[in-house]
Amino acid sequence: MTSTIIPVDPFDFVIFGGTGDLAERKLLPALYHRQMDGQFSEPSRIIAVSRAALDDAAYRDFARKAVIRHVAVKERDEAQIERFVNRLTYIALDAHTDNGWNELTAALKHKHGIRAFYLAVGPSLFGEIAGRIQRYGLVTPQTRIIVEKPIGRDLASARALNDAIGDVFDETQIFRIDHYLGKETVQNLMALRFANALYEPLWNSAHVDHVQITVAESVGLEDRAGYYDKAGAMRDMVQNHLIQLLCLMAMEAPSMMDAHAVRDEKLKVLRALRPITGEDASRLTVRGQYRAGASAGGAVPGYLDELGNAGSTTETFVALKAEISNWRWAGVPFYLRTGKRLAARVSEIVIQFKPIPHSIFEPAAGPCIANQLVIRLQPDEGVKQWIMIKDPGPGGMRLRHVPLDMSFAEAFGVRSPDAYERLIMDVVRGNQTLFMRRDEVEAAWQWIDPILEAWETRPTEIQRYTAGTWGPSAAIGLIERDGRTWHESV
Ligand code: BG6
Repeated sequence: MTSTIIPVDPFDFVIFGGTGDLAERKLLPALYHRQMDGQFSEPSRIIAVSRAALDDAAYRDFARKAVIRHVAVKERDEAQIERFVNRLTYIALDAHTDNGWNELTAALKHKHGIRAFYLAVGPSLFGEIAGRIQRYGLVTPQTRIIVEKPIGRDLASARALNDAIGDVFDETQIFRIDHYLGKETVQNLMALRFANALYEPLWNSAHVDHVQITVAESVGLEDRAGYYDKAGAMRDMVQNHLIQLLCLMAMEAPSMMDAHAVRDEKLKVLRALRPITGEDASRLTVRGQYRAGASAGGAVPGYLDELGNAGSTTETFVALKAEISNWRWAGVPFYLRTGKRLAARVSEIVIQFKPIPHSIFEPAAGPCIANQLVIRLQPDEGVKQWIMIKDPGPGGMRLRHVPLDMSFAEAFGVRSPDAYERLIMDVVRGNQTLFMRRDEVEAAWQWIDPILEAWETRPTEIQRYTAGTWGPSAAIGLIERDGRTWHESV
């Protein structure tokens, strides 16, 4: 099966942090894929900037290596790679001074088409870069700015960052990336809910017992100790990715698939999240930090050793029980968990339906297990609807719990594009549906801040867990206290 590619208008895509990790691992490979699939119109250009003293040839070499390293062999094509690197220009530029800005201005001069500035740099530079973009007269009506998380480390700092960017750009020009929103299955969640009549009538507290959202990773700190130890799992994953998944899962049907309509509905969910403050934080949240254990068959050090700082109380795991105070969801717990160095890399949303009200079957038929819908984001993207059937064959009535299994890779046989591919093309198209609006980011912090404040008053409450497991036993207690259990993801 092939997918339809609709080319985008020609664009200039400027990457600040052009030699950084994000550019190398995600942005350049994503742009290469979109070119390869024929989505670019000419002349489209990519201008990389950073402080490194490189010239075009050296940067093209960097980009060539990035594509070779991060694009699957069967997607690589010599001629396409050369075509791709030839659209790259490099400018050495300093965000803190005026060095290089005249060169960037000259490179963009006389071009009045779509212009996107991707800030693949730390948030401390956002304000300064936006300010210079303005001073050098680089903002046109067709200009967009893209920023990555972390957008702040609490509500106050998020507001300050949003103000700094908002002083230069209109909200319609600001694209705040949460790459989870670009994942295929995350968008499929919207298709599943709103392109089918089947689920929506059941999607509420009358029929849903609870919801679980798991984003488990097997990796540890990787090379991001400096950033991660200041962030922790709550700021790195929950404030953005998990909360966004919760919003898409829980929101009302927007009137149309439009940036305002979708984001208005997500915002209502965020505002309905019941606050977790003070003592409640100890009851409704669990934070953990991994100690030495085994991952992917090998021994791995604990977080503190990996970090080289025995005193860190940064959490590498969070589990929490959230509630949404509205008519649809009152009384339905949403259990969220995420962590590093867990037993497997798996992200999924589990919707646990309520049991049938009355069984007509003899006890010998076996128990009627409640229906469950499992939306698997990664790996093995797909949807499994667990139902009860009669065990096939002769003999009496025996019941069996089986999945109606829809594995996307098997069903469609197409490469699942990386989230950045879709999101970058949406920026060029000017479609903000899959990006976070200012009020959403701030509402998410508003809910997270009191939990972080409560944690700060009790730093010793952090629970250790062995690397390669599913997290601290307290996380199991969190759900089992309610008579429920975590879905066994693998
Ligand atoms: C990033 C986090 O936003 O998401 C990382 O900063 C995390 O810590 C990553 O590893 C997970 O993304 P994915 O797409 O691999 O699930």
